[in-house]
Amino acid sequence: MAAGALCGASSCTTLGGLGGRPRRVSGDVRVAVAGLRTKGWQLASHLATLPGVRVVALCDVDRDILAERTKQLEVDHGVTARGFADFREVLDLKDVDAVALGTPNHWHALQTLWACQAGKHVYVEKPATHTLFESSLVPRAAARYGCIVQAGTQNRSDVGLREAFPWLRKGGLGRMRRIHAVVYRLRPSIGRTEGPQKLPPSVDYDLWCGPAPMKPLRRKSLHYDWHWFWDTGGGEVSNQAPHELDLVRWLLGDPAGPSSVLTVGGRLGYEDDAETPNTVLSLLQFREMPVLFEVRGLPMKKDSDAEPAYQGVRVGVVVDCDDGYFAGGRGGGKAYTHDRKLVRHFPGDGGAGHMANFIDAIRSGRAEGLHAPIKVSAASADLCHLVNISYRVGRQVDPGPAGAALRGDREGSEAFERLTEHLEANGVDTKKSMLTLGSHLAWDDGARRFTAGTDFEKANALISREYRSPYTLPDIR
Ligand SMILES: NC(=O)c1ccc[n+]([C@@H]2O[C@H](COP(=O)([O-])OP(=O)(O)OC[C@H]3O[C@@H](n4cnc5c(N)ncnc54)[C@H](O)[C@@H]3O)[C@@H](O)[C@H]2O)c1
Repeated sequence: MAAGALCGASSCTTLGGLGGRPRRVSGDVRVAVAGLRTKGWQLASHLATLPGVRVVALCDVDRDILAERTKQLEVDHGVTARGFADFREVLDLKDVDAVALGTPNHWHALQTLWACQAGKHVYVEKPATHTLFESSLVPRAAARYGCIVQAGTQNRSDVGLREAFPWLRKGGLGRMRRIHAVVYRLRPSIGRTEGPQKLPPSVDYDLWCGPAPMKPLRRKSLHYDWHWFWDTGGGEVSNQAPHELDLVRWLLGDPAGPSSVLTVGGRLGYEDDAETPNTVLSLLQFREMPVLFEVRGLPMKKDSDAEPAYQGVRVGVVVDCDDGYFAGGRGGGKAYTHDRKLVRHFPGDGGAGHMANFIDAIRSGRAEGLHAPIKVSAASADLCHLVNISYRVGRQVDPGPAGAALRGDREGSEAFERLTEHLEANGVDTKKSMLTLGSHLAWDDGARRFTAGTDFEKANALISREYRSPYTLPDIR
């Protein structure tokens, strides 16, 4: 699996700075930001306001976006930055200490690896990786090249959650019994296209695709909607949910991966060009406790734009404990008794200090102070990959067998009932519609292999991907 995806560092990239270790930063931290349309621009604007930080370069493969953001940085912040289309040129710059990556998911690991090899510190958006295999390489590169690498899972810096989670782990509500993570965000249809679509002329499509196959565009929008195609994204599971699955691992004490995963779901309620599910229910068995995870992209009911909620949580976690439950997510949360009396409120700040935490770690030269170090973040991204792989090797069934597969787990079974009601409320005829019943896969986190479950060898084939030359992964040992 791995060997096919790797090549010797010298033959992989055209990097000038290969092998460089990061310089100790004593003055301003000089940052380059890549992927500027949405999140990357937020990162650049935030960085421009941090004391002792200078945004010195911007990079985007869409020259219109690059030009617009470069101008905007001047106007909004009085900062003049050099612009680049090719990220590899940024890595040659001697006056760049760190890079911030707001590029699409399929680029995260490769750009992180290249940056570490060039001696740059990295802030990489979530999910830190696009495959399970990438998750084993990236932390190794950070350690090997002595780079500070933090992921954009900013909930780890939320002051409310930083107080609440240790309290829960110490038994604030008695023993934790189960975690239920939910991501209920409206994700409407992206529509249907007839044949290949025109690419924006301002985009270097070879660079946009990078390691992914360079296929004709089969959606209306190149940008953002890449989330809904397996080559470049992982659906809502790898879009919003890396945050909530990261909360799950944090609550569990950042343990090894689960021993098994079973996902059911589908893309239901509309037909469009996308590949990934808008409805997911997954059961992850950790040694510590079982975890239920749900995605709903449809509204509360047909023709409404209200989002559903579970125990008052739309996007976040509900932690069931012996003496009550905790409900929360970004922005903090609340602990209740089982009869819903408030025990404690943990107001949060959304992780406002997350980037500053990264900059502080660069200054101190100590990765230990990071709130979302790459080792932790890559392991959290793994949960997205495991959920998706179970789904991808699944088969189409009517809802009967899908429900039966969860019957061994009472909460899973109840969640499936609620999922069915939710689909019915959206006009989906669950008697006729097919669902995907994923494979119930056994996962050996130490060996990094699936070891059992229907079609588990097909699942093993999805641990890595084909990398389109020259965008292959460097060999990091
Ligand atoms: N932490 C958060 O809360 C949060 C919020 C939103 C998005 N994100 C993450 O940010 C990333 C980007 O999401 P988005 O919504 O901004 O996507 P987007 O499609 O709106 O923007 C991506 C940008 O990257 C550019 N790009 C593509 N390949 C590139 C390359 N090789 N080099 C330089 N630029 C390249 C594109 O041209 C585009 O401008 C995703 O991974 C997403 O998960 C994180």
